[in-house]
Amino acid sequence: MSKNKNVMVNEKKWSKTNTKDGFTLWFTGLSGSGKSAVADRVANRLEEEHGHLVERLDGDIVRQHLTKDLGFTKEDRDTNIERVSFVAKLLSRNGISVLASFISPYIARRNKTREMVTNFIEVHVHCPVSVCEERDVKGLYKMARKGEIDNFTGISDPYEEPENPEIKLNTHKETVDESVQSVIDYLEENGYI
Ligand code: ADX
Repeated sequence: MSKNKNVMVNEKKWSKTNTKDGFTLWFTGLSGSGKSAVADRVANRLEEEHGHLVERLDGDIVRQHLTKDLGFTKEDRDTNIERVSFVAKLLSRNGISVLASFISPYIARRNKTREMVTNFIEVHVHCPVSVCEERDVKGLYKMARKGEIDNFTGISDPYEEPENPEIKLNTHKETVDESVQSVIDYLEENGYI
């Protein structure tokens, strides 16, 4: 019984991937802005409610593997995003719904990603640096203020805000569920789900 159920789920997913391109939701914003929290929940909803094949690419995790040789200079950040964009491109053109969450602070680099990735959807996860610093979930802002971390985005390194993102979230003014719903609404309104 449960075997049959699994087969059915797989068939449904395969038929979807064979008939439709995927997309890449690209969450950009400061550390502590809520990128990962929102992306994780959107990913769950896409899997559970819409039967999508989903892949999450997240800065903290990718930097332990694919880009573990890189630091936080402008050059290294751009290389980090370049490698991840390549992966997002391969996945999204094969029907996978990709949710990428990276600070990705530079407009020029994000725009290169936009050009190379199928159905690129930029999500600006906006939250003032003062609020991110107050949250300081990982304690990194405190360390950056003390000078224990160099090139810390928002403190001693720039963040270039998106000029024309497809979606803008204001995580200091809305709940995680509200942000998630805004993303789902955009995908529905634009025929992605
Ligand atoms: S990006 O700039 O290259 O896109 P990425 O999203 O991969 O950054 O990694 C950011 C994460 O690395 C942060 O959430 C934080 O946990 C950690 N981190 C460590 N050092 C820094 C730093 N100098 N600036 C920003 N984030 C840092």
